[in-house]
Amino acid sequence: MPKKYRIVVLISGRGSNLQAIVEACLSGIINGAVCAVISSNQNALGLERAAKFNIPNSFIAKNTNEQKKNYDKHLCEVVRTYQPDLIVLAGYMKILNADFISMFRDKIVNIHPSLLPKYPGLNTHLRAINAKDKKSGATVHFVTEELDGGPIIMQGSVPIFSNDSSEQLSRRVLEIEHKMLVTAISLICAEKIKKRKDTIYFENKKLSKKGISFNHLMEQR
Ligand code: GAR
Repeated sequence: MPKKYRIVVLISGRGSNLQAIVEACLSGIINGAVCAVISSNQNALGLERAAKFNIPNSFIAKNTNEQKKNYDKHLCEVVRTYQPDLIVLAGYMKILNADFISMFRDKIVNIHPSLLPKYPGLNTHLRAINAKDKKSGATVHFVTEELDGGPIIMQGSVPIFSNDSSEQLSRRVLEIEHKMLVTAISLICAEKIKKRKDTIYFENKKLSKKGISFNHLMEQR
């Protein structure tokens, strides 16, 4: 087994994905440890979850013009002190700047609540319902300068039922998110997933643009 991965998690809110990651690290499903949680929102429930696990946690303010101007630089400095092998955006609702992304190139992954490339950005569940899509889901991908556009590691889908509200769909998607994010991170930390340039390899085989199908993976288990 490779060395234990040092994982920094960036959040903005509830932190249910963070909780799933921490529990999977503690139970040994993920070969890693969450060494810090950083939030863009002072009142994020995720900060309380981190504190309960005694994980160093902090909030980086972005109120004054000076703080706004220096936000990414400050974030970079704070993240760097933890020497992460992997940075996970788990409900992080800010756009990272190019300097941050190039500083941690190939080490940042994001979970997005849609089947990318469909519906990058916000309000994904409502957009899928309004488009009368039959399914939705979530995507784990490497972060590049293109918003929600980096190479896809894994996608998992759930059905959309007629009369679904955005909240109902979001709950169904979140359930799959927790399992899928843990699975993707566990494969990365076991060094079974590698990124070279824009291509992802899973157990040394080139992945298609859609990444690993989480549903298929679950059927095989
Ligand atoms: C999750 O649904 C995640 O996919 C989404 O925010 C939620 C966070 O929930 N992320 C984005 O929309 C990023 N663009 P959580 O705080 O309970 O993990």
